[in-house]
Amino acid sequence: MNKKTRITRLLKSTPDGQIVTVKGWVRTFRNNQFIALNDGSTIVNLQVVVDRETLPEDILKRITPGAALIATGKLIESQGHGQAMELVAAEILITGDSNADTYPLQPKRHSLEFLRKNGHLRFRTQTFGAIFRIRHHLAYAIHKFFNDRGFFYLNTPIITGSDAEGAGEMFRLTTLDLNNVPKTDDGHVDYSNDFFAKETNLTVSGQLEAELGAMALSNVYTFGPTFRAENSNTTRHLAEFWMVEPEIAFSDLDDDMDLAENMLQYVIGYVLEHGKLDLEFLAKRLENEEKNKPQNERSFPLLEKLQGIIDDKFERITYTEAFNILRNSKPNKKGKFAYPVEEWGMDLQSEHERFLVEKKFKKPVIITDYPKGIKAFYMRMNDDGKTVAAMDILVPGIGELVGGSQREERLDVLHDRMKEMNIPIEEMQWYLDTRVYGSCPHAGFGLGFERLVLFVTGMTNIRDVIPFPRFPGSAEF
Ligand code: 4AD
Ligand code: MG
Repeated sequence: MNKKTRITRLLKSTPDGQIVTVKGWVRTFRNNQFIALNDGSTIVNLQVVVDRETLPEDILKRITPGAALIATGKLIESQGHGQAMELVAAEILITGDSNADTYPLQPKRHSLEFLRKNGHLRFRTQTFGAIFRIRHHLAYAIHKFFNDRGFFYLNTPIITGSDAEGAGEMFRLTTLDLNNVPKTDDGHVDYSNDFFAKETNLTVSGQLEAELGAMALSNVYTFGPTFRAENSNTTRHLAEFWMVEPEIAFSDLDDDMDLAENMLQYVIGYVLEHGKLDLEFLAKRLENEEKNKPQNERSFPLLEKLQGIIDDKFERITYTEAFNILRNSKPNKKGKFAYPVEEWGMDLQSEHERFLVEKKFKKPVIITDYPKGIKAFYMRMNDDGKTVAAMDILVPGIGELVGGSQREERLDVLHDRMKEMNIPIEEMQWYLDTRVYGSCPHAGFGLGFERLVLFVTGMTNIRDVIPFPRFPGSAEF
């Protein structure tokens, strides 16, 4: 798309009869006269006025919802209400027709479910246009945040021969003939004939490799696709999602939490500034969506919620404090939790997380120092021998948005933990070497990018904030 023709740019100019060209898709065509044209550069449609007296009848008939066209004419102050300017078309060139009878996106409100089924066309709706522009702004803001602070963007492998992270079930990768799998004498799959001559998977996290980078470049971050074959058919899980994972050398858990909090505040501030129109639209959408809900079930107005993230510090509590709050809470005493809070050491379920952020603190909460039994082997052991220097950031409406920790930098302690948790030490020598040669305290976290987009857009299903969602039973496109 030529920059000069973009609607977002025209909207910033003064309409004084200059000749311009716009290129986009017809949203609606009213009275055989007014085209609402959208080119994706902004949520705002440009009104293109055609002269039905002089425009050839056959062109007029081809201006239908979904059709692609190029219009050239004078940009003038709008004669009607509802828009500041309009283009009086002298020439219309239709580059792609759209059959009005079969085009799935009729000029009316469609359900998100319907649009998910028409995922190849949903980009052309206001809602999905807004979501994917916001997604872009967030991605850009993340890179900008880290770049401006001296972090290096490190690409960690997507195909991995290590399965030690233990963050989730992995997708196996092979070029072996699945109808004729070679076996060793003792009946196991013979990977020596496979492409990589070993068992390989799609990565669940770039963390362990990012740590290697941080042990030389000091501050690095990854931002890439990660894959989990968990059969979690929820509105918060995808089988393929994007994760942002910074890793910082010579840093502890407090530095890690500060980094995560600052990053969230920065990127949300950035979209509030650069994605204003889209966010205003999404805020309205959410309000409409929830207007039939009782007051106490409605979510906080979107823009105020986002501003609150910037204005207010996150709550920081330990797992033990959270556990005590939950154990003494009304819903727990009244038996309202599906998982009663009774025993210290239990994992927190989403009902517990939601109680803490939505009922108790009404803002993001960082929970630290989890029991070692429910966290990964690489998290630094605290002096009490029972908890690790972990942190999860929980946010209203979503639950866990960020998971991170200070890493165990002490070789002997790490070694013991790996043994205890049956992590294959021989295969992990490359990881342990960073502790053998020039180890240092370090920390990092993982942010689920789609969960961030969910939070910022006020959408409720994670499948609506990634262009092509992958989930159990579905890998369309
Ligand atoms: O908590 P997780 O599993 O942490 C890790 O993978 C660490 N290696 C991160 C690190 O310290 N570098 O995942 C991190 C985040 C979660 O907090 C969540 O936001 C998101 O990734 N996430 C998912 N998002 C969408 N679909 C899924 N199936 C997800 N699983 C985790
Ligand atoms: Mg986690």
